[in-house]
Amino acid sequence: MENRTPLIAGNWKMYKTPTEAGEAARKLAGLVAGVTGVEAMVAPAFVAIPAVARALSGTEIALGAQNLHWEDQGAFTGECSAAMLKDAGCDYVIIGHSERRHLFGETDEAVNKKVRAALAHGLKPVLCVGETEGERDAGHTMDVLDVQVARGLDGLSITAESGLVVAYEPVWAIGTGRTATPDQAQEAHAHIREKLGQVLGKPLANSTRILYGGSVKPGNIAELMTEPDLDGALVGGASLDPASFADLVRFRAA
Ligand code: 13P
Repeated sequence: MENRTPLIAGNWKMYKTPTEAGEAARKLAGLVAGVTGVEAMVAPAFVAIPAVARALSGTEIALGAQNLHWEDQGAFTGECSAAMLKDAGCDYVIIGHSERRHLFGETDEAVNKKVRAALAHGLKPVLCVGETEGERDAGHTMDVLDVQVARGLDGLSITAESGLVVAYEPVWAIGTGRTATPDQAQEAHAHIREKLGQVLGKPLANSTRILYGGSVKPGNIAELMTEPDLDGALVGGASLDPASFADLVRFRAA
């Protein structure tokens, strides 16, 4: 069994102004100070990144962004590059979230370019994959995950230092209150790890953290995290309130 430090990541989506985000980050830092054996990360909206970076400075909590553009700079109105995010203090960047894929038409090809850009600038990519309800009902879950992992990482040179994280987020479980059962999540995670083994080689696959996302809450995280291939969580709704997110970070104590 590999020693994969669990990562509990909060995706704040399009919630919180810079003032609110800075305040929440400060509260969270106070609540989780001294927690060991778990890494915490928050990903605010682009505009709130500087405020959150200030609030988290000197703490153990990592900072992430929710998206990026793959070019370093250029005439791409409304976009942010990996270099900009790195300079603003980000450690991680979420890539290919299902809301980006389904609401904004992000393709596996775009996801691949974004992962490449993140790696080139020393940002740790959190590559999101997951099937829709229709795909699950049709029995296509594992095929969808295979394609998203293979295309997302195609042609990239990834090492242990890249800090790659994969997040399994079944679309039907996001923001719905319908969590995957621990068995369903473990089956998908084991499959993703197998696929990562083919793409990256077994040692790297075994040291890569695979997070579960989709209606994770303080009441269900401990049970999910008992599964051997679940190495943390990517949390939306329950990460917005610092007290609730702190409970998630302290899941081992719950
Ligand atoms: P919820 O935790 O609100 O279901 O959102 C999950 C998610 O999309 C995290 O990226």
